[in-house]
This record gives sequence, structure tokens and C-alpha cells, in this order.
Amino acid sequence: MTPANPAKRLTETPYDEFAVDVHRGLSQTPKRIPSKYFYDARGSELFEQICEQPEYYLTRTELEILQENAVDIAAAIGPRAVLVEYGSGAGIKTRLLLDAMQDPVGYVPVEISTSALAASVESLAEEFPDVDMLPVAADFTQPVDLPSPEQDARRMVIFFPGSTLGNFEQREATGLLRTMCIEMGKTGSALVGIDLKKDSAILEAAYNDAAGVTRDFTLNLLTRINRELDGDFQLQQFAHKARYNALAGRIETYIVSRIDQSVRVGSHSYSFAKGETILVEYSCKYSQEEFEAMAAKAGLRVTRTWTDPQHWFALQMLERA
Ligand code: AVJ
Repeated sequence: MTPANPAKRLTETPYDEFAVDVHRGLSQTPKRIPSKYFYDARGSELFEQICEQPEYYLTRTELEILQENAVDIAAAIGPRAVLVEYGSGAGIKTRLLLDAMQDPVGYVPVEISTSALAASVESLAEEFPDVDMLPVAADFTQPVDLPSPEQDARRMVIFFPGSTLGNFEQREATGLLRTMCIEMGKTGSALVGIDLKKDSAILEAAYNDAAGVTRDFTLNLLTRINRELDGDFQLQQFAHKARYNALAGRIETYIVSRIDQSVRVGSHSYSFAKGETILVEYSCKYSQEEFEAMAAKAGLRVTRTWTDPQHWFALQMLERA
């Protein structure tokens, strides 16, 4: 059923979840903070800027793959499908897909940020008047109750672009694919964007752009903690570091303390030794074989793969095994 007012579906995340995660993460050895907290308004803006940096090939390449293969991808999805998207971005990729799809009946973005959600659905509603817009404000890593469109749908396709899956460790990523397998139903499918393994110099450049936008993006997490959790991080006393861990097959991003120092967040105090790190992000890279093996563990099989001429990025279509 479609609610009269889609905004009514919006639920808020508990206000103290960020505080709890930051406290827990800074009390651990080694220190770590989940990467999902990068995306406040400023963080989302900086991420958009990262996507425009010459070194950050991911977004650009995925968009090229989508553009080149839109007709083929739409045919693989089939007519009268509901498009579910995990994390609603700027909406460019969504637009491309909806445009290519044959009579799509619904669009269900699942996104934590209520402002991002509202913005993406608002503009799409005008462009696609025949598609039911059903935004869901939720953390897609948790099982969500997906609304169904008023019009009858033949199939669900879960779109998970941008290599966001790569932010999760192997076990969590497999769990997320398993959740998708359940959500999509017997006849459903998923379209997942993943970054492929390649020369480490190319990978490291993508996460250490010359203009320093990625550095600002990483350190903005401290600004957010200062503002929202009453912290006193001094940004000039911390540095950004992103390295490719070839053995683990992932970019690891850290915030590094430049000096011995103590930082207060709310009523807690945390000490940092010079050179001590906070792990803030994993961006996992896969070979085609590794991705297929992971999908198989989640009860899925790769039915189609679309890639760019350099094989830097891939869009994988998944169905129940
Ligand atoms: C949006 C999570 C896929 O890991 O490549 C970009 C985020 N971090 N530069 C990625 C990000 C640093 C990005 N994802």
C-alpha cells in the first residue's frame, strides 16, 4: 500500500547511536569509527566533489558502464519492475536506470539521511510521474520492511551501486547480500556495483587525490564529532592516510594523530599517542572470482556482468542460486 503522505514513512535513527558508536570505537585498541558517519550534509557534499576528482575513477566508470549498457541491463531486469535502491545518492544513476527500464512501477530508495531521501524523490517524481515513489528512511544493513507500489509489479530489482558493498568486511558484506537475497524474493534480482582489483598505485591515488578533497572528507568526521557530540578535536593535529592492503584486497583509511594528545568528546576523554590511528573506512576490491564466491555464500549467483574496457569496475546482476 502507498501512504497518502510518503513523508510519514520516515523514521528517525536513535539520536544517541552516533555517540555510542564513537565512544565505543575510541575506547577500542586499535581505535575505529564506522564509515557511515562520514555522510552529514558537508560529508555528502565533499563526497560529491570526490567523484569529480580525476583520480577517483569509480563513479565515472560505473556511470559509463550504465550508459553503455542501459538497454541490455533494462532488458535483463524486465518490464514492470520495482526498483529498490540501497542508499540514494545524487540520483544520476537512478535516472539512467529508470529511463532505460520498461514501464517501471515503483522506486524505493532506502537511505538513512531523511534530507537526501526527500531531495532525490522530489525531483524524480516530476520526471517519472508513472512511477510510485516510496522512500524508506532506514539503515539498509538492518532488515527493512519494504513497501509495495499500488500498481502490480512483476519483479523487484535491488540496485546497490557505487561500490558501497566494499565498505563492509567480508562477513558483513556476505550478510548484506544474504539480506538482499531474502528481500528480492524468488523472482527478484539485484544489480550491484563493485570495484575490481587493479594496480595499487591507481587505487591509492583514488583515495589520496592531489586536491585534498578526500582528506577534507575524512577529517570532516572529526568536525562532525565536535559539533554533534561536543568534541574538541583540533583538526590540524590529525592527518588523513589511505593505503592499499594487498593481502586483504582493500583500501584502508585512517585518521592519524600528529602528536601525543588528549581529546575530549562529551564527558569522555581519549588519549592519542603520536602516530596512533583511527580506522575509519575499508573500501574492498574484488576479482570477478572472489565476488562470485561471496555471492554463492549468500545464496546468489551472478547471471550477468557488465564492465568497462579496462575492467576497473563491474556491475553484477545477481539472482537466487
Ligand atoms: C562511496 C563508499 C564507495 O569507498 O570508494 C570515497 C567512499 N571514501 N573516497 C569508496 C569514499 C573515500 C566510497 N564509497
